[in-house]
Amino acid sequence: MVSPQEKPIGVFDSGIGGLSVLKQLVRFIPYERFIYLGDTARVPYGNRSVDIVKEYAKQCTEFLIEKNVKLIIVACNTVSSVALETVIETAGKIPVIGMIKPAAGAALRSTVNKKIGIIGTRATVSSNSYGKEIHSLANNEQVDVFSQACPLFVPLAEEGMIRHSSTKVIAEEYLSVLKEQNVDTLVLGCTHYPLLSQLFKEIMPEVNLIDPGEHSAVSALRLLAESGELVEEKDEFLIKPNIEFYVTDVPALFYEQAQNFLGFGIDEPIKITLE
Ligand code: DGL
Repeated sequence: MVSPQEKPIGVFDSGIGGLSVLKQLVRFIPYERFIYLGDTARVPYGNRSVDIVKEYAKQCTEFLIEKNVKLIIVACNTVSSVALETVIETAGKIPVIGMIKPAAGAALRSTVNKKIGIIGTRATVSSNSYGKEIHSLANNEQVDVFSQACPLFVPLAEEGMIRHSSTKVIAEEYLSVLKEQNVDTLVLGCTHYPLLSQLFKEIMPEVNLIDPGEHSAVSALRLLAESGELVEEKDEFLIKPNIEFYVTDVPALFYEQAQNFLGFGIDEPIKITLE
């Protein structure tokens, strides 16, 4: 029988954006085995209806259950916003960590003036998932949450236009509303946005940026440590993280984009069909 420590952690996203979350997981729990699933054939999820995102999320979860994972990380803010319950119901006894709660807690700890900005896809922003979670965690404390959908950031990041002048103009436009509201904390509520952190810092230098991937990785570390399922540091030097990649399509530029998100090269992904 496989011991809990030997089981992999399942991570899924609508595409390659979740690799920014995987990068944080490798940073905090490097000795774990990971199974990464990117639904690259059906990305983006961010402009789709709630029902369709739920259906896709269920299929991704079922795939990871088949892989005998010990924990599921929903490395997509859109799925975490509109379909977390579907993932939890499908996963049964397997614990699930989404992007919203860990980042909402971090945003509350960060804010001094109690004004928090959220940026994300249309689906994430219209769900008000971050606003609801922040207000529930804040109890009765007064906190103002201002949200802005930034749909153009996903294609810009995927095109590698991180330092392009047009990206700066678009970012200034999107962030102007949040600047006017004087937010002191900004949640990067989409997998692609940590790639644009430098630009956000230039436009809003006083603001503290919250990367949900980082905080969900810390939650995963805590959860596994508490349940005794954490793979402890090994004596031998870790040459390469242990990650299996599955995708529903291998698009052009896949390796280049994956490298941008992850910061290191990846093995050949295995193409699968979800249904
Ligand atoms: N992964 C998605 C998110 O974090 C962005 C890409 C998409 O729209 O599917 O919301």
